[in-house]
Amino acid sequence: MMMYRSRLGNNLHEITLDYVSSISEDVEIAFYDIVGSQAHTIMLYENKIITKNDAKKILLALESLKKEKFEKKSDVEDIHELIESLVIKKAGLASGGKMHTARSRNDQVSLDIRMKIRDDINVLCQCLLDTIEALVSLAKPHQTTVMPLYTHLQQAQVGFFSHYLLAYADALFRDLDRLYVTYGRVNQSPLGAGPVGGTSIPIDRQSTAKMLGFSGIVENSIDATSARDFVAEYVAAVAILMTNLSRIAEDFSIWSTLEFSFIELSDEFTSPSSVMPQKKNPDMLELTRGKTAEIIGNLTSILTTLKGLSTGYSRDLQQIKSSIWSTSKTAIGTLLVIKLMLMTITVNKSKMKKATESGYLIALDLAEKLVLNGIPFRTAHKVVGKLVQLANLSKKPISKITPSELRESIKGTSIDSKVLSNIIKSTSVNSSLRDRTSEGSSGISEQKRMIEQKMKKINAYREGTNNRDNQVKTTFEKLSKKVKEITK
Ligand code: ARG
Repeated sequence: MMMYRSRLGNNLHEITLDYVSSISEDVEIAFYDIVGSQAHTIMLYENKIITKNDAKKILLALESLKKEKFEKKSDVEDIHELIESLVIKKAGLASGGKMHTARSRNDQVSLDIRMKIRDDINVLCQCLLDTIEALVSLAKPHQTTVMPLYTHLQQAQVGFFSHYLLAYADALFRDLDRLYVTYGRVNQSPLGAGPVGGTSIPIDRQSTAKMLGFSGIVENSIDATSARDFVAEYVAAVAILMTNLSRIAEDFSIWSTLEFSFIELSDEFTSPSSVMPQKKNPDMLELTRGKTAEIIGNLTSILTTLKGLSTGYSRDLQQIKSSIWSTSKTAIGTLLVIKLMLMTITVNKSKMKKATESGYLIALDLAEKLVLNGIPFRTAHKVVGKLVQLANLSKKPISKITPSELRESIKGTSIDSKVLSNIIKSTSVNSSLRDRTSEGSSGISEQKRMIEQKMKKINAYREGTNNRDNQVKTTFEKLSKKVKEITK
């Protein structure tokens, strides 16, 4: 085909063509290239740059291409060349040859990528909301499921499983919000910027932007064609999201070990071993960690491509497209997997509870009770530390401390042994969770409040995401109608 080569003597060598062509990656943006071209054609006609007859022929050709399967065709450089050449073939050069008036592949490719990311963000927001809902739904029946909370993967304080799940609901809400806000910066039209400096032909950029559902245009034509910071921003947001999912995956895979046995993954979520018959491996969770590394790699590759690039389009930018597609695909898949994992796990409440009894999880609660009795925190910390040391020496819980050990622990302080003894007697894992009332804490009352609040938040974001989704859908329906009107 090779339409653009009049200045060049020979056609591309097949080896260079294969090297330069992005056609195999471009299948992902074929649809956007077609609707983008339709909007552009309508604008050219409405501004009397081409005739109705030209527009008709081009639009019909483009419409028929919607059904085309664009498999790897090796004799074109990209989807833009392929679609234009097919339009010329179908509509004839006299009309079809006018489609590429007042635009360039440089504004075109950025336009296509923006429409693709726009749709991907909407899908991701829906998937994120489903995963957050799965977290909150699982939190509901586990508001009284006691478990150890960890720092340094050492037992730290006693808490509830719901509290853990709600922590990731909050983290994923931030991921959701990042994508939600990024959408606004992605949803700007670069079309009509031309190769870099605009055009002398009297186009109307606002009208194409509107027809394609953008909230405005990327004003500066140099910026519109050069910039890919919106891509970096999108992939960065997804990389952060994946990092959060990867940490969930790590926790659940530790908790599914025989040693922990806090949870059991459903059979659909595990892989056997080819040799060890007993194995039930958490491969999906391991792949979540592994795929997260890949997405971080995508971000690194995109930023590295951009950082040294001179202003204006350079072909390096072609390389970042496949990173975008794989980022979206992987993140959507991971969200589906994590959601399903949450919906199908078995939680071993008694194992979790048991783990809270073996250690010294109520140590801080004891110290805080001393503080409430007027003892400086530093002194209380020291006394309880001593208690733990003595109890640990004879491998028993603090509740089994002897009167003489108790006296030893308060030596040199003004603490009354009766007071301390009463505090020890009245403090348990349960009392400690009842007393924890600070906002956002593991306290019993906080679980209910947070769950209710998260459910409201999910509904609000659902509405916003659905509205955006519908907006894009109606935009394309309207465009289709316009095409039908002109071509009838
Ligand atoms: N295939 C190219 C890409 O994906 C399209 C833009 C080509 N523009 C150019 N001036 N060579 O980036």
